[in-house]
Amino acid sequence: MLSAKRILLIIGGGIAAYKTLDLIRRLRERGASVTPVLTRAGAEFVTPLAVSALAGQKVFSDLFDLTDEAEMGHIQLSRSADLIVVAPATADLMAKMATGRADDLASTVLLATDTPVLIAPAMNVRMWEHPATQRNIAVLKGDGITFVGPNAGDMACGEHGPGRMAEVPEILSAIETALGDGPLKGQRVLVTSGPTHEPIDPVRYIANRSSGAQGTAIARALAALGAHVVFVTGPATVPPPDGVIVIRVETAQEMLDAVEATLPVDAAICAAAVADWRVSSASDHKIKKTKGGLPVLEFAENPDILATLSQKTTDRPRLVVGFAAETNDVIANATAKRARKGCDWIVANDVRPDTGIMGGSENAVTLITADGAEDWPRMGKDQVATQLAARIATALS
Ligand code: CTP
Repeated sequence: MLSAKRILLIIGGGIAAYKTLDLIRRLRERGASVTPVLTRAGAEFVTPLAVSALAGQKVFSDLFDLTDEAEMGHIQLSRSADLIVVAPATADLMAKMATGRADDLASTVLLATDTPVLIAPAMNVRMWEHPATQRNIAVLKGDGITFVGPNAGDMACGEHGPGRMAEVPEILSAIETALGDGPLKGQRVLVTSGPTHEPIDPVRYIANRSSGAQGTAIARALAALGAHVVFVTGPATVPPPDGVIVIRVETAQEMLDAVEATLPVDAAICAAAVADWRVSSASDHKIKKTKGGLPVLEFAENPDILATLSQKTTDRPRLVVGFAAETNDVIANATAKRARKGCDWIVANDVRPDTGIMGGSENAVTLITADGAEDWPRMGKDQVATQLAARIATALS
């Protein structure tokens, strides 16, 4: 049920706008109120009269309507909802959102808001697949915008492929999920993930085998429980989850800077495989083979992000969780690591190559807390993430 939930519905200009009329009816049946914003192009597909009759409210469409500004300014309009839904979200509207343009009421509301935004894209398949749209999608996902659809199928323009707006029941269930009151609602959680790359020169770097799979799964599981997740990731091989703020970094120092800029948070989960060392003076030009012999690399120690967070005197997260990748004496080493770094929990795992854990889809972990060590059976990284997120929710409640 969506009783008393306030939805600001932005209707873009696409043939799928006709489905949005049904969406308004279904939302109101479930007890939500719908404030409609109709773009100029949207009004070519559905009439303001039909929209306002179904919504039971006036339709907002003009940024410079003095009556609207007197009754409810566009800034207030952008804040007076629990969720903003854009359906259909056209390629043009998505481009405006991705670049922060504000040249009509819909784009201005989207730029001025601090409310969660869910979009249901709809466009021609070639437009969806165009690199420009794909770039915009990546930007919007990184900004924490949630997507529903598009679906693949026959399109009004006669082509076939991804681009059809999601069906009304799918949009309704995405709205219910977005508005869900999970146990972590209102909590800010930081997750570090992936490897770091430490430059040797402009073309070479030192890296490790982390795929980012476990950190990504944890961020997804925390977001599913309603947390506001900031995901700071090195160059991982798996894509970041939807519905989280994504900050991409390369080096350990950049990761620390991004983490510091995110504070304060309620909890921090350090799942990144941060390089322990960097080349102390990385060359600003490609190091050439010379007859003079082999190059000698000198190393400097990288900042320890987990220890820095754990030992903060101000802004220390209430819960700091680290991982311990070990190849021998897993529990003893991880227990010592917990004490050394000062974190609350350590999730220890055995990363000997024969376990297939590093870069694989499964994990066998031991959770080490102040109360001792607890072995979890070997399970998928997604299940480890779900179980850990549930424990975090209990600890923060
Ligand atoms: N970590 C970190 N910053 C670093 C190194 C590690 O935040 N510079 C974090 C990792 O994200 C992980 C935990 O510390 O949560 C332990 O990482 P691990 O590689 O197991 O430990 P190290 O500190 O590198 O210790 P060692 O190499 O001695 O095992």
